[in-house]
Amino acid sequence: MNQAVDWNEDNRPTLETKRLLLRPFFPSDAEVQQILANDREIAANTRTIEFPYPEGAALKWIEQHADMWKNGKSAIFAICLKSTGELTGAIGLEISEQDQNAELGYWIGRDYWGQGICSEAAREVVRFGFETLAVNKIHAHHMTRNLASGRVMEKIGMKKEGLLRSHIRKWGVFEDVAFYGILRTDERPG
Ligand SMILES: CC(C)(COP(=O)(O)OP(=O)(O)OC[C@H]1O[C@@H](n2cnc3c(N)ncnc32)[C@H](O)[C@@H]1OP(=O)(O)O)[C@@H](O)C(=O)NCCC(=O)NCCS
Repeated sequence: MNQAVDWNEDNRPTLETKRLLLRPFFPSDAEVQQILANDREIAANTRTIEFPYPEGAALKWIEQHADMWKNGKSAIFAICLKSTGELTGAIGLEISEQDQNAELGYWIGRDYWGQGICSEAAREVVRFGFETLAVNKIHAHHMTRNLASGRVMEKIGMKKEGLLRSHIRKWGVFEDVAFYGILRTDERPG
């Protein structure tokens, strides 16, 4: 891991792409985050998000981010449109110091789907993971029925590494899960 990163400070970075600002979440984002995340489709496709999204859950989650960064556990970004400042979703890396890898996770508010926002954000977060955090590998997984998420992983250059049958149980249903990864030495699309 990159020793140059000062994990003890709340110096969470802001990243920039053509259309997006990937910045830390602030408590003032909680109200909008609560509305965006309160979506059955988002809950249905993620491991930890509940539906209905419990009252107060957004603020509670946001308040953990600074410590998770300081402890070297995760880097979580609010995905905002540069043009308007609107919050559109969340993306993050959960870091394993032991394995020098990180798990990529994301969701986008329904009104913003299909505009390439997640792919643009994910490409930049993967770059950040390799170039700033200096991890060796970034991995991600999706339930096989979640074709949009699989497409995002492919578009950012992740390779499908396998499919685990009935690997998780979501809302009482056993789900097949596809696993993707990209290594520091792999080629990344522009
Ligand atoms: C998955 C998700 C993050 C994608 O966000 P997004 O900003 O719409 O993604 P992008 O626009 O960057 O890319 C989506 C790609 O999936 C494709 N896609 C969308 N729905 C699809 C479907 N049903 N079947 C196949 N491809 C699909 C899009 O066409 C696009 O690919 P393209 O650029 O080649 O046309 C968003 O749908 C979401 O938040 N879903 C709920 C939460 C979730 O699934 N999180 C990830 C858990 S693993």
